[in-house]
Amino acid sequence: MGDEKVLRINKIGDGIVIDHIEPGSALEVLEVLKISGKDGMTVSLLMNVPSGKVGTKDIVKIEKKKLAKNELDKISLVSPKATINVISDYEIKQKFTVDIPETVVGVIKCSNQNCVTNSKEPVTTTFTRESSQDGLKFRCHYCDRTMSLNEVKKSIIR
Ligand code: CTP
Ligand code: ZN
Repeated sequence: MGDEKVLRINKIGDGIVIDHIEPGSALEVLEVLKISGKDGMTVSLLMNVPSGKVGTKDIVKIEKKKLAKNELDKISLVSPKATINVISDYEIKQKFTVDIPETVVGVIKCSNQNCVTNSKEPVTTTFTRESSQDGLKFRCHYCDRTMSLNEVKKSIIR
């Protein structure tokens, strides 16, 4: 169609496309993945672009990147509806939605300063997901303190 008007960002050859990110959260996704730009990673970023009939979304494309389990968990907390597309040879080889795991290990810092996970010899944090009337809660395995999803977003280990 020679449709230059609709081209926003090129397809990528190899890497991952994180799509359907909550609008305005793309920079937070990059932050939790520890991608600063100084690392030389090739990254494309779209923020607040139209998605479907109504609404908007962010998209992040990271070339030559593979996502580890704890990185997927971090993305799920920042943007629970994000989709991950794994690309190789310009084709989508896998597409899936992130999932907030039932047990979140090594990803969240406990908000209780006296928790053993914040001590001099820290223990890997472990939180259990619970649902409550005011949304998701995360309970620390060590001190029993619960944190809301909003608190957790600010306490993702960067
Ligand atoms: N994409 C890319 N490079 C590729 C293939 C796909 O950057 N080689 C990007 C597309 O630009 C799009 C995302 O990956 O942002 C998902 O592609 P696709 O499944 O083709 O789009 P949709 O059908 O719109 O996705 P969905 O059904 O998940 O909304
Ligand atoms: Zn704790």
